[in-house]
Amino acid sequence: MIPSTTFLLPVTLFAQCIVAQVSSSISEPPITSSLIISIAESSNNPSGSPLTTSAPRSQNATATSSSTTADVTVIVGPSASTNGNASATTSARARPSNTRPCNGHVEFCDRKFSNISMVVAHNSPFVRPRNAASNQVYPVLNQLNDGIRGLQFETQKPNSSSAIRLCHTSCDLLDVGTLESYLATVKGWLDSNPYEVIAIIMGNNNGQTTRIPVADYVQPFQDAGIMKYLWTPSLPSMNLTDWPSLSEMIIRNKRVVVMMDYGTDQSQVPWLLSEFNYQWETPFSPTDPAFPCTQQRPPNQAEDVSRNRMYMMNHNLNIEINLSGISGFLIPAYSLLDKVNAVSGNGSLGLGVQNCEKMWGRPPNWLLVDYYNFGNINGSVFQVAATANNVSYNEKSCCGTQSISAAVALTSHNVPMVVSLLLLSLAWL
Ligand SMILES: *[C@@H]1O[C@H](CO)[C@@H](O)[C@H](O)[C@H]1NC(C)=O
Ligand SMILES: *[C@@H]1O[C@H](CO)[C@@H](O)[C@H](O)[C@H]1NC(C)=O
Ligand SMILES: *[C@@H]1O[C@H](CO)[C@@H](O)[C@H](O)[C@H]1NC(C)=O
Ligand SMILES: *[C@@H]1O[C@H](CO)[C@@H](O)[C@H](O)[C@H]1NC(C)=O
Ligand SMILES: *[C@@H]1O[C@H](CO)[C@@H](O)[C@H](O)[C@H]1NC(C)=O
Ligand SMILES: *[C@@H]1O[C@H](CO)[C@@H](O)[C@H](O)[C@H]1NC(C)=O
Ligand SMILES: *[C@@H]1O[C@H](CO)[C@@H](O)[C@H](O)[C@H]1NC(C)=O
Ligand SMILES: *[C@@H]1O[C@H](CO)[C@@H](O)[C@H](O)[C@H]1NC(C)=O
Ligand SMILES: *[C@@H]1O[C@H](CO)[C@@H](O)[C@H](O)[C@H]1NC(C)=O
Repeated sequence: MIPSTTFLLPVTLFAQCIVAQVSSSISEPPITSSLIISIAESSNNPSGSPLTTSAPRSQNATATSSSTTADVTVIVGPSASTNGNASATTSARARPSNTRPCNGHVEFCDRKFSNISMVVAHNSPFVRPRNAASNQVYPVLNQLNDGIRGLQFETQKPNSSSAIRLCHTSCDLLDVGTLESYLATVKGWLDSNPYEVIAIIMGNNNGQTTRIPVADYVQPFQDAGIMKYLWTPSLPSMNLTDWPSLSEMIIRNKRVVVMMDYGTDQSQVPWLLSEFNYQWETPFSPTDPAFPCTQQRPPNQAEDVSRNRMYMMNHNLNIEINLSGISGFLIPAYSLLDKVNAVSGNGSLGLGVQNCEKMWGRPPNWLLVDYYNFGNINGSVFQVAATANNVSYNEKSCCGTQSISAAVALTSHNVPMVVSLLLLSLAWL
């Protein structure tokens, strides 16, 4: 087991002022003794006003870092050159060099949220040992500390008076508790990791015909204390170029993008994005080890729209079983996890990304996987993302030491013998 907390270092914020004078009618904010960061605005800011914040985080903010020296200067936004009149107090060209990684890499700070490949934990909360409906072995804090930046899961309400719960397929099969409790854990991680941006991608799975009313999602997010971090889009749908940079999201401290597949209404709940107006997905719950990178949801979307949008590659391989009276239940193909999550080879995540790049001219934004800690090398799923992002990945100690047999050793009562036979039949991959 890896430790559930990482080494925490206090963030030393220099009281350094980088004032970008951007031509606009907006007056400069007073420069106080507290930290002021201004970044020249990118094209994302419709008003063209400078992005300014006065130390949104408390002095007590901490961040995970492997550096040992005072290493925060400032996170500078996209190049000021988009505005001919932008200048910094030092000089217009000598931008301060940022040494603070955003989502683990300095290179990402200037990139748009839509220009980074991140690994998504499929069904992130479902980590109950020896339960066939689980999809991960490590819980969400380990996931985030290891580098997972997308948290995907189903939400259900077993009855109308119930709180929203995290259940897989049915609350009778696997119920890991309330949405609020899970979000409170995530919120705690965000508090101590102020330079990280994540997405929460929910399924509104309350049956095929009934959906949980969108207004019901507000309370659990509020009660978890996570509302202050939620990013709200200014557009009802967004193409790649419409997204803000990571540094903008970090400086504004709006570091959580929340999406849901069905049942959203942004006029009622503006921070809960209608997923398919912002990104599309390859086939869901795939059972085909060739993992075609075709668009499945939303159906019938014009190709030029898809080419301009973020997309998620569902790279979890399933087999079908009959479980607890539910026929056609899909579970991860355990025996193939090391291959499916591998850097290369047939059916691998690495090959899947390459296939997607060939078809769409860019890597997927989201690499959704089961049991992210497995693969051909430690952290292979993160190695694949780093390759897609053209950065280096060096965390050789990533992701614990669980063996597949220990992690997913299923009891005979919840998985029939036929599963073993099915696993064998898939061994050709
Ligand atoms: C930018 O600066 C130039 C020269 O200093 C000035 O002529 C021009 O009006 C400025 N542009 C704006 C939009 O303020
Ligand atoms: C910051 O730490 C000090 C003591 O070190 C404490 O008194 C204060 O309440 C903390 N503030 C916050 C916002 O956590
Ligand atoms: C980011 O943008 C560059 C330039 O368009 C592109 O080459 C690269 O594939 C993009 N990466 C991702 C993950 O979108
Ligand atoms: C509704 O669901 C909750 C959570 O599972 C449960 O505690 C409660 O007993 C249920 N109420 C009814 C009326 O079934
Ligand atoms: C996104 O791109 C599509 C296809 O090029 C275009 O039709 C649409 O107007 C764009 N939408 C936005 C919000 O920019
Ligand atoms: C699952 O049950 C259905 C009938 O409900 C049956 O046709 C099918 O063969 C079963 N599949 C397996 C893998 O046992
Ligand atoms: C990949 O699969 C194809 C058939 O689907 C097979 O011909 C090839 O040898 C396999 N490659 C590896 C490296 O296993
Ligand atoms: C990858 O990054 C290197 C710098 O580390 C850069 O020289 C190279 O152009 C980048 N490649 C792509 C395709 O962006
Ligand atoms: C993988 O990580 C484990 C746990 O940190 C470590 O014991 C092992 O040596 C690593 N394996 C490789 C090949 O780096």
